[in-house]
This record gives sequence, structure tokens and C-alpha cells, in this order.
Amino acid sequence: MNLILLGPPGAGKGTQAKMIVEKYGIPQISTGDILREAVAKGTELGRKAKEYMDRGELVPDEVVIGIVRERLSQPDCEKGFILDGFPRTVRQAEALDEMLDEMGRKIDAVISIEVPEEEIVKRIVYRRICKQCGAVYNLIYNPPKVDGKCDKCGGELYQRDDDKEEVVRERYRVYKEQTEPLKEYYRRTGVLYEVDGTKSIEEVFNEIDSILQKIS
Ligand code: AP5
Ligand code: ZN
Repeated sequence: MNLILLGPPGAGKGTQAKMIVEKYGIPQISTGDILREAVAKGTELGRKAKEYMDRGELVPDEVVIGIVRERLSQPDCEKGFILDGFPRTVRQAEALDEMLDEMGRKIDAVISIEVPEEEIVKRIVYRRICKQCGAVYNLIYNPPKVDGKCDKCGGELYQRDDDKEEVVRERYRVYKEQTEPLKEYYRRTGVLYEVDGTKSIEEVFNEIDSILQKIS
């Protein structure tokens, strides 16, 4: 199963991707996570990407396209994959189509998680992430059992550099302008599914899961 998770920042793409990984055993490919890892390691890619990320802007297409091309060629993607945060522009979607064509594969479903702007700001400002295992929490909606510590591994929780309100609003603006048009792009090929992302994490997952059962 080859999936794309679409939706504004804070819609719950990462949260749902992890639940799909657990149930279906296909890998999550998050361009945001890959870029943040490069930033943390202080590589050349990381230094370049950080400037864009801190402003809430998109990293140049050719950079992320290269990352995804290399990741999709790895053996664990043979059984399928979940793209989380890619594609984000029409150029990226076209490049992905070319890559998949070359591989003789196609996208089975694009799941667009719909959440309005005000809810997004609330979710992101209260988001905390485990430094060690990447588990995602929310101080209001999905708090850890012990303050500042991950339930799963005891790791320390941190807040992303781009999770400040003014940067979140810019990321949302960029989403509306550059990424939302992709819904039309995928609607045309009949693979787009829209999901109400304002419901609880479990309810959203059940809705996604019923789509996945239908298509698999
Ligand atoms: P990226 O890391 O992809 O960030 P994003 O798209 O802004 O998405 P988020 O990770 O913020 O949100 P999410 O939808 O995964 O939500 P989550 O599950 O965490 O990108 C960051 C930056 O990298 C970009 O700005 C750009 O610069 C660069 N970049 C990345 N990919 C790129 C690309 N392809 N091209 C160019 N540049 C790229 O949930 C959010 C919070 O809400 C959490 O606290 C969670 O616990 C909570 N929550 C989740 N679901 C629910 C629910 N149903 N109810 C209540 N709370 C919920
Ligand atoms: Zn953890």
C-alpha cells in the first residue's frame, strides 16, 4: 500500500502515520523528520534547510525530491510506504509521479486530514515530542503521564523550533497557497480521500483505517 498523508501543519499527519505503521507494518517517510535529523546532526543539508524551516517556508523542491528519491529506493519501501509531509508543491507531486513510474508503482490513496486554522495553532503550540523515540504528545489533548517525560521510553520531551505561533501561521499560509492545490491534482486521478481531522485521535484513525481496508 502506497499512501500520502496530506493536510495543514498540526493536522495530525505524524500522529496518524505512526498508527498506520503499527497496524500495517509499512514505513513512514516524513520529510520534516529527515530534515530535522539533518539539522540536529549539523550536516550541510541541515544548515541550509534550517533557515527555511525556522521561517516556516518550504525547503527548495530539488532538495526534498532528492531526499525522497533516495529513501524510496531502500528495500523496506518495497512492501509500501506512507509519505508524511511530501509532496507539498505541484512540482514535488510531478517528480513523485515520475519516480513511481520508473519503479512501476503508483499511489493507492491520498488522505487529506482537514482541520481549521484556529484549532491548528492550539495543537501545535502545545505539542511536545520525545527526543529519543519521536513519540508525539499534546499538553492538552494527549498529555504524557509524567511531566516532560515520554510514556513509551522515558525520553525527554522537547518543543520544535518552528512551533511558535507566528511561524505556525506562516506555515499555514504556505500550506493554503502551495500545498492545498494538490487536493485537486489527486482528485483528478480518483485517489483523494478527505477525513475530518477535528475528531479525536482514535476516531480519525478509525476513519482512515476504514479507507485503507476498502482499498487493500
Ligand atoms: P513537517 O515536519 O512536515 O511539519 P508540518 O507539515 O507543519 O506538520 P507537523 O509535523 O507540524 O504536523 P502533523 O500534521 O504531523 O501533526 P502531529 O501529528 O504532530 O515540516 C516542517 C518544515 O520542514 C516545513 O515547514 C518545511 O520548512 C520543511 N519541509 C518538510 N517537508 C517538506 C517538503 N516536502 N517540501 C519542502 N519543505 C518541507 O499533531 C500535532 C499536534 O496535535 C500534536 O501535539 C498531537 O498530539 C495533536 N493531535 C494530533 N491529532 C489530534 C486530534 N485528532 N485531536 C487533538 N489533538 C491532536
Ligand atoms: Zn520516547
